[in-house]
Amino acid sequence: MSTENPGFKWGVSTAALQTEGAFDKDGKGLSVWDEFAKRKRKIGDKSNPSVATDFYNRYPEDIAILNQLKIPNFRFSVSWPRVIPMGTGQSNEKGLDFYDRLTDHLLENNIVPWTTLYHWDLPHELQKRGGWFNRDILNWFGEYVHLVTNRLGDRIKNWMVLNEPMAFTGAGYLLGVHAPGERGIGSFVSAAHHAALATAAGASIIRSNVANAYVGSTFSQSWVEPHSSGIKDQQAAQRVHDMLNLFFILPATGHPYPLKHLKFLNKIEKFIKPGDESKLNANLDFVGVQTYTREVIKYSWTVPFIKASMVSAIKRKQPYTQMGWEVCPESIYHVLKNLQSVPGLPPIIITENGAAFADEINNDGIINDTERIAYLDNHIQQMQRAMKEGVDVRGYFAWSLTDNFEWAEGYRPRFGLVHIDYENNLKRTIKESAKWYAGRIKD
Ligand code: BGC
Repeated sequence: MSTENPGFKWGVSTAALQTEGAFDKDGKGLSVWDEFAKRKRKIGDKSNPSVATDFYNRYPEDIAILNQLKIPNFRFSVSWPRVIPMGTGQSNEKGLDFYDRLTDHLLENNIVPWTTLYHWDLPHELQKRGGWFNRDILNWFGEYVHLVTNRLGDRIKNWMVLNEPMAFTGAGYLLGVHAPGERGIGSFVSAAHHAALATAAGASIIRSNVANAYVGSTFSQSWVEPHSSGIKDQQAAQRVHDMLNLFFILPATGHPYPLKHLKFLNKIEKFIKPGDESKLNANLDFVGVQTYTREVIKYSWTVPFIKASMVSAIKRKQPYTQMGWEVCPESIYHVLKNLQSVPGLPPIIITENGAAFADEINNDGIINDTERIAYLDNHIQQMQRAMKEGVDVRGYFAWSLTDNFEWAEGYRPRFGLVHIDYENNLKRTIKESAKWYAGRIKD
């Protein structure tokens, strides 16, 4: 593969909150997820991210695994409350030191770092001041991006501003199922507009501080299909597509918000200040596409505003993962092909794709996760099919290096290429899928 596409970036992705643990160590401030996990019935298995996989202490072990597997690119995120405990103001030298050590260790092992600035762990102190509702977040975020890029920009060249703005504003500010647990259209549109502005502002700060920066931001994408050919289902699918797939990627690439079929989001206009339109284009070098499944949508008058609901994979008798998500390899092909309709879209990197399955260790200590191997293999093939048809894809990162804290689901879903034994001192075991992936990506 690499010889067919020289320069293609193969890697694995992770995120701070899901792996680091050490939630209050060395001066770290709390994040909204540390607080959210304390609330009743918010995390499926009643767990919390306090320890996670202890990446904060065990990163050398994980990097040794990357080295052993010869995985050339590693995506991680920086925890904002670890480096600025109150979210704004005083920085935390020990927190910054951690990212220095991590970066240096990656580079010493010839692994290229790819760094996300915001993967959902907002400082709790900022949430107390309104978080993403408060337009001041643009100043707070700017201060944070300056700090991190000035510190690491001499060694890290590949940056992503936000991780999946639709996921954190949709789940965290519209549905209330992710931190900080807010609900409603009003809270969603204000958080969304500030996140869209932060994407562009963050990208421009990275460029001003980092010589030869390669700047992107990541967007969740699903293949959305109507449940039937009836007009109501088709229109419902159109609304869901515009919201899930286009709402953030369009403004980031120089287009207006897609409000034509989403009249209920018109309220966003209340938050758009004069001149904002010209501040939304992030001029990205790449878009990070994160895709897992397809969504089949039917019209549903009982669902407020969007009037649409998902028909589950189980109902449709399709194979599904531990998340209940359909295993549908063609979805990545259609996601990529659909993006061709966005004028001026920069090259794409698949910054996340992967699957959670209930892995078992056999008597020989081997985890033969054949379903995950098939998932990755088929998705990579479908990505290559889109590339052959002209979609400009420059890289593929599997989610995730290790099993980890899967947000509101806790530790139950296992997305890792490497198994974590939560009962036994967080022991790492390389799954067969990791060996398969290593073989697949080698020159
Ligand atoms: C997120 C990851 C998450 C994965 C699987 C993506 O939306 O960026 O943090 O673990 O999906 O749910």
